[in-house]
Amino acid sequence: MSAAPYRVEVMHGVNLDQLGRRDPLLYGTLTLGELERQIEHDARELGIEPSFFHTNHEGAFVERLHALSGHADAVVLNPGSWTHYAWSIRDALEIAALPALEIHLSDVQRREPWRRVSVIADLCFATISGRGPDGYRDAMLQVREELVRLDHARERGG
Ligand code: DQA
Repeated sequence: MSAAPYRVEVMHGVNLDQLGRRDPLLYGTLTLGELERQIEHDARELGIEPSFFHTNHEGAFVERLHALSGHADAVVLNPGSWTHYAWSIRDALEIAALPALEIHLSDVQRREPWRRVSVIADLCFATISGRGPDGYRDAMLQVREELVRLDHARERGG
């Protein structure tokens, strides 16, 4: 592992600020603030320095992705329904050029057919779906593994 903690940006997209009001069977009962505190706790235990971003505005999400490189080593993103159609977010993720993990609270593969489409999946090294808030702990673990793997590959490459 590198000397400094890994910096991981956790990005929440459209309507995720409404957690706590949305269907608890799909999304759980935590508010976004509570979810972020849980992620922060889990991340720090794993030696990760998390940062958080939420917006309901697609352009703001895109601009945050543009600004990420140099500030984060990886990104964990739940773009909400943008996942399924927002090509601008896909392009911005490609521009960010960071290791990325896609995450959803609900199991998008077992819901309406339109939710089975992800325009970002192939830019992400992993997708976690349907594990509720606990999925974020697994996301942090998988991100750390991926960053360690990339560090080792870089060291081997000189
Ligand atoms: C979601 C799944 C999306 O299909 C939905 O539009 C959301 C949340 C999830 O976390 O399960 O807003 O990304």
